Amino acid sequence: MANVTFSSPAMKKDVTVYAVAGDRRTILGVAQEHQAPIHFECQNGECGSCAVQVTPLSGKPMAVHLTEKEKSVLMLAGKLTKAQCEQIEVTDTAPMWRLACQYIVRDENILVQF
Ligand code: FES
Repeated sequence: MANVTFSSPAMKKDVTVYAVAGDRRTILGVAQEHQAPIHFECQNGECGSCAVQVTPLSGKPMAVHLTEKEKSVLMLAGKLTKAQCEQIEVTDTAPMWRLACQYIVRDENILVQF
């Protein structure tokens, strides 16, 4: 089980939902199911419109690794610098910005801000 908390000025209050780990759903998919209004366009990791900030609420985040495509789109969207990308790879830490349509929810508790 994973708890995903959505927080945004576009919502009246934060909403925490349970997501079943292992069902391969993305943050965007969970958000759509629970009416959290994350903006999106392509749903294919290409436009960058679904960029969200992801903060682990317990333990080390499990979904750390960015794909090359996600890195490129986040850098083009101005959410990640090349230096930050390199640091993330060296330190094996989680980047703050992710693409909601590409981030598979794992067995972790996360805060998603948009
Ligand atoms: S909706 Fe286009 S990158 Fe996620």
